[in-house]
Amino acid sequence: MTEQRPLTDTATVRPVPTLPDAQTVTEVQHYTDRLFRFRVTRPQSLRFRSGEFVMIGLMGDPDPATGRQKPLLRAYSIASPSWDDELEFYSIKVPDGPLTSRLQHIEEGDQIILRPKPVGTLVHDALLPGKRLWLFATGTGFAPFASIIRDPETYERFDEIIVTHTCREVAELTYSREMIEGLRQDELMQELLGDGLDKLRYYPTTTREESPKMGRITTLLESGEVQSDLGLPPLDPAVDRAMVCGSLEFNHDIKALLEGAGLHEGANSEPAEFVIEKAFVG
Ligand code: A2P
Repeated sequence: MTEQRPLTDTATVRPVPTLPDAQTVTEVQHYTDRLFRFRVTRPQSLRFRSGEFVMIGLMGDPDPATGRQKPLLRAYSIASPSWDDELEFYSIKVPDGPLTSRLQHIEEGDQIILRPKPVGTLVHDALLPGKRLWLFATGTGFAPFASIIRDPETYERFDEIIVTHTCREVAELTYSREMIEGLRQDELMQELLGDGLDKLRYYPTTTREESPKMGRITTLLESGEVQSDLGLPPLDPAVDRAMVCGSLEFNHDIKALLEGAGLHEGANSEPAEFVIEKAFVG
């Protein structure tokens, strides 16, 4: 049954929420048959730190026995920065994924559920001050970094920000590539990016389709190729900081690599040289 609410103030008429914590979809963009991005309205009271995640989802199917519906929620990094009026999310589409098989069909004007309790470790507070910030992403793990690189605080805290994004295919890099190109063209951002716009560097790689730089970022770091391509010294715990977001295996492998270079994992309660979070995968 749909709840009907009397409309008392015609100046602020909004769609009548039919879901708990409902937010309205304002934009949807599909990149490939596996990836899409969408934007929703932001609850006025929602404050978050760039890089945090929230639980979002849809109402699940009715229970066959009781007919009752429960929300189907998953943790999603907020891809928009904390100053944005709306919230942006970047998602995989899994054909038999309980949530994304349905979420991929949302359209402008639809409603989703959003629990307004942001949390997460991919935040500046969990890192000690440093000079260079590495943002290591695979697949949809780029989402929290889409927030971080649009936050002016990132450029105040670090001299240089390097985004690495590894995907299977070239088209899967579109979201990060277009965003970084957009930031370089944005007048306000240009001030933050410095004269040569080189304060924000982008290092995209693919593993299963030909592109200018091929290979897993872990392999390219181990061989020293990343450093020689970017003209940088080896990772140094005195100056380098890192945020990591990808699959479990990726996180595990890069963690070993960072620890091998002398960096330690941090947390909100105990900032250190790197932080890590699993990207949502289904
Ligand atoms: P690969 O094609 O060699 O598996 P996925 O789409 O499966 O989430 O993977 C996203 C990207 O992350 C792919 O390019 C994949 O490379 C890469 N990847 C997966 N596991 C690891 C890992 N353990 N270390 C580095 N890169 C990885």
